[in-house]
Amino acid sequence: MSIPIKIAGIGFQVPEAVITNNDLTKIIDTSDEWIKTRTGIERRHVLSGNETAVEMGIKAAKKAIEKSKIDTDKIDYIIAAASVETHAYPSTACEIQAAIGAMNAACFDITAACSGLIYGMGIARALIKSETAKTVLIVATDAVSRCLDWTDRTTCVLFGDGAGAMLLTVSDDNQDDILAVSLKSEGQYGDYIKMPFSGKNCPLVTPNDEEKMFIKMDGKEVYKYVVTKLPGYIEECVEKSGLKLNEIDYLVPHQANMRIIEALEKRLEFKSENVISNIKDYANTSAASIPIALTEAIQSGKIKLPCSAILTGFGAGMTVGTTVVRLREGIA
Ligand code: ACO
Repeated sequence: MSIPIKIAGIGFQVPEAVITNNDLTKIIDTSDEWIKTRTGIERRHVLSGNETAVEMGIKAAKKAIEKSKIDTDKIDYIIAAASVETHAYPSTACEIQAAIGAMNAACFDITAACSGLIYGMGIARALIKSETAKTVLIVATDAVSRCLDWTDRTTCVLFGDGAGAMLLTVSDDNQDDILAVSLKSEGQYGDYIKMPFSGKNCPLVTPNDEEKMFIKMDGKEVYKYVVTKLPGYIEECVEKSGLKLNEIDYLVPHQANMRIIEALEKRLEFKSENVISNIKDYANTSAASIPIALTEAIQSGKIKLPCSAILTGFGAGMTVGTTVVRLREGIA
């Protein structure tokens, strides 16, 4: 018998500092109107001073754990979906482990960019279904503001910082909250979004050029890729779930561009009030965008529990992750 999984708690954290579109006009040639019309973004939260992505992840994780009412020593794995901010190791997951005291957990990071939460859910689900783990914490935390060229108006206006967390455990009432997961990777489109890290040759063999480590993105190609491929991938996952699209209550997409969200809404024939979007206030927070949108919508009453939902994300790789879930009362 397949082991049923419960989504037991979710939470999110964003930094205090907020940058509006008008603030950005002080450092680049842009306008509130251009950014709003092309993307739907009005403001974003960014880390300042010595704040880190790990600290945001810890706070988000503590909120998810508190909602789940599960002791931290019951956590068997911590999976962090995190893009490199300051160092490659120790892993973000290990740093979160130490801070929350989940000392029985095995910890590792995954790199799936904005699809990170869904990839983490896919791995966690496999760990639980195979009886390798009973309880898994997934933390998606990204400090994208630290990887941006703040003189490049084509990328720096699009992103913000944030973290989200989700705790999965064996269900105690036989309801399986994760009905289907579908993960796709298409490495042939890897050039669409890139973030270099400082792998350098030994200077005795090859002199090194000074390379800046900024996100580079071909926005038009990403846009085309997503609107062409994502709807079909979502439909495939919904079919695996055993539900029909019109039986699913909410669509919670990755918050990358309002026009992409509206295109999905139209193509999948969702009512706009059932499509969750908070890109206006947070911009694209990479792996954290889905858990932030989901938690905030539950807390504000926009998502009414219990319900079913599609969570779907896409990002560098290219990677795409979709899941169909049931959401219980009291998780956020
Ligand atoms: N302010 C003012 N003008 C700008 C800005 C800006 N911030 N950025 C670009 N422009 C200009 C361009 O220079 C160009 O001017 P030109 O016509 O004189 O050359 C004009 O605006 C149009 O630029 P486009 O790139 O054609 O604008 P487009 O309509 O394609 O919108 C955008 C760009 C918003 C990036 C869009 O392509 C998009 O959202 N793509 C998807 C991005 C995405 O989803 N990324 C996910 C990342 S997930 C991850 O894993 C990191």
